[in-house]
Amino acid sequence: MHVIAAPDRVELGEQLADQLSGEVTTYERTAFPDGELHLRIEEAIAGTALVVGDTRPNERIVETLLALDAAREAGADAVHLAAPYLAYARQDRAFEHGEAVSSRAVMQAVGSLADGLCTVDVHDERVLEYLPGPAVSQAPAPEVATALAEREVSLVLAPDEGALSRAKDVADRLDVPHDHLEKTRLSGSEVEIKPKQLDVADSTVAIVDDIIATGGTMATAARQLLDQGATTLVVAATHGVFVSGAANRLDDAGVDEILVTDAIPSDRSSITCAGALARGARTLQQA
Ligand code: R5P
Repeated sequence: MHVIAAPDRVELGEQLADQLSGEVTTYERTAFPDGELHLRIEEAIAGTALVVGDTRPNERIVETLLALDAAREAGADAVHLAAPYLAYARQDRAFEHGEAVSSRAVMQAVGSLADGLCTVDVHDERVLEYLPGPAVSQAPAPEVATALAEREVSLVLAPDEGALSRAKDVADRLDVPHDHLEKTRLSGSEVEIKPKQLDVADSTVAIVDDIIATGGTMATAARQLLDQGATTLVVAATHGVFVSGAANRLDDAGVDEILVTDAIPSDRSSITCAGALARGARTLQQA
């Protein structure tokens, strides 16, 4: 296994290569005067190449496509993409006439160059079916549970029923109960959460979700739990998208700690997603 990491993803690539007992390399990335990218992998690659490439922000999609092509040009027999965050997974169908099915477009573009894909905690696993080859998503539940273990959490909550299995996985590893709230989305940044009586007085509660985007979901849930007497609120998400003042919104809601992985790297990333990607890459190798 030859891990080819984007220049900004060398650290993640090294962790991944370590777990997969592979080698890691990067590519040379330059831009032409008109802004178009030029990518080159100097080394000769043999066997399977695992390209670690981002799909966010938008320009990274183009770079990742070029990296997949370069891997094959450099000699790889099979090329797999390790995409820590799979962008556009929330537009998995046309909700209104004439809308692009964005996840299908992205997956088919990737699938034209990659033989397989592994990603971390994709928003909806159904989008993986848009890839012509095998595609797997692995949650970072073991790593999130390890981070929460130091915090003496007594309940793990999902903000809605759809996120329950993620919360259960983490709670089971911590050997604490889990439950879910009932969320209704009112707008892009506003959600409503139905009041639910929970035994959270004087305790530390963790809310676990896949994405923090505007922070509306976590902030609304946190307020409700603090009103019910929880003393410490930790929010943990795989993907810290953090838009529209999300971090301030969470602070204002009284959240004590925000834990996110480096699937989208930021100075808030305190959990590595390398383990989840390695689990996915091993599954691909066996496919
Ligand atoms: C929604 O279904 C997702 O699982 C997240 O709950 C959502 O994307 C979070 O978005 P926001 O932070 O904007 O509430």
